[in-house]
Amino acid sequence: MNEGWFEEKIEKISSIGGYQKPELIQDSVKLDSNENYVISKQFQNDIISSARKTSDIREYPLGGVERLIGMISEFLKMPSSMIGIGNGSDQILDLILSNFASEQTTILTSKPTFGFFEERCKLYGIPLIAIPFSNDMKLDIDDFLKQSKNADILYLDSPNNPTGFQFSKIELQNLIKSFNGLVIIDEAYGEFSEYSLTRMVKTCKNLIVVQTLSKSFGLAGLRLGYFVANTKFTDAFMNVIQYPYPVSTITVESGIQALEKSNVMKDAIDVIKIERKRIVETLQKYDTFEVFDSKANFVLFDAHGSYKRVYSALVEQGISIRKLGEIGDHKGCLRVTVGTKEMNSKFLLAIRDLLG
Ligand SMILES: Cc1ncc(COP(=O)(O)O)c(C=O)c1O
Repeated sequence: MNEGWFEEKIEKISSIGGYQKPELIQDSVKLDSNENYVISKQFQNDIISSARKTSDIREYPLGGVERLIGMISEFLKMPSSMIGIGNGSDQILDLILSNFASEQTTILTSKPTFGFFEERCKLYGIPLIAIPFSNDMKLDIDDFLKQSKNADILYLDSPNNPTGFQFSKIELQNLIKSFNGLVIIDEAYGEFSEYSLTRMVKTCKNLIVVQTLSKSFGLAGLRLGYFVANTKFTDAFMNVIQYPYPVSTITVESGIQALEKSNVMKDAIDVIKIERKRIVETLQKYDTFEVFDSKANFVLFDAHGSYKRVYSALVEQGISIRKLGEIGDHKGCLRVTVGTKEMNSKFLLAIRDLLG
């Protein structure tokens, strides 16, 4: 091996760029990362406090992961042997990619797709076939059916981040049934949508459905994701691929507490769906915006030539949303998370002051 290989490798990795996190704006109304503020901080603090009482962090969390999986199993009404966990669904996706994909395997996905997933594919040199969204931010199932023969892995975030689009259940089921390779369905925003495919795993051996407590449960900082898959994959993932102690004791205990109180999450989702409709309908009133339908806890809109001005004006008002810019023919895309009623009102009022 040549002497400079290490420097060369660093150069190559650095040139990839990495995942773009949102700007850190202190004390802002934070509508930039699809977090869930409808679940109160007090509720989350109570969960962490009782988790602390049942934790002894001098010890590795031996047996903790199994108890947590038992709780997820009750929540999903799926067998424990088909459930695995990870340090956020990010880590689950990364471990699947690094162990099941390579420069020799092709992944079929959408353009855009979840940014972290795409960055990871770049890092590992995994070729992508990425099917673009149409002008009205929809995907055509026939494009996927046509390309499915040329791919080894199908990855779809359902609903998609950042568009909020989701195929109808029947369309997605048909696509999965017709696909011979590995299928990864990322349901990070599944609870805000109309369906989940976790149950399909029972009859479909090549399907992995990935979910997270970051969005629906409002626990993004806890870093807890999970997946549902066939027993053989789950066993190999949890016993060979996954780290021996993938999440902290506090995460295990907090996750169990949160799942025991899943009714709080369900109530929050109802609020978010109502607020999502309000945001879409209000933004639609401005001719300058093109607003896209969403099945997730965020709304994508094209502010065309004025998107930088809208973004900066909001930042000046202490409101942070996501500046995405170009998606296909849409040059000025912005994505706003659905927050609490108060947060959303601040956002909508700031828009009214700017454009009204
Ligand atoms: C589509 C999608 N998948 C996965 C994730 C990662 O979630 P987690 O917090 O569980 O790592 C995100 C986070 O933004 C996402 O948008």
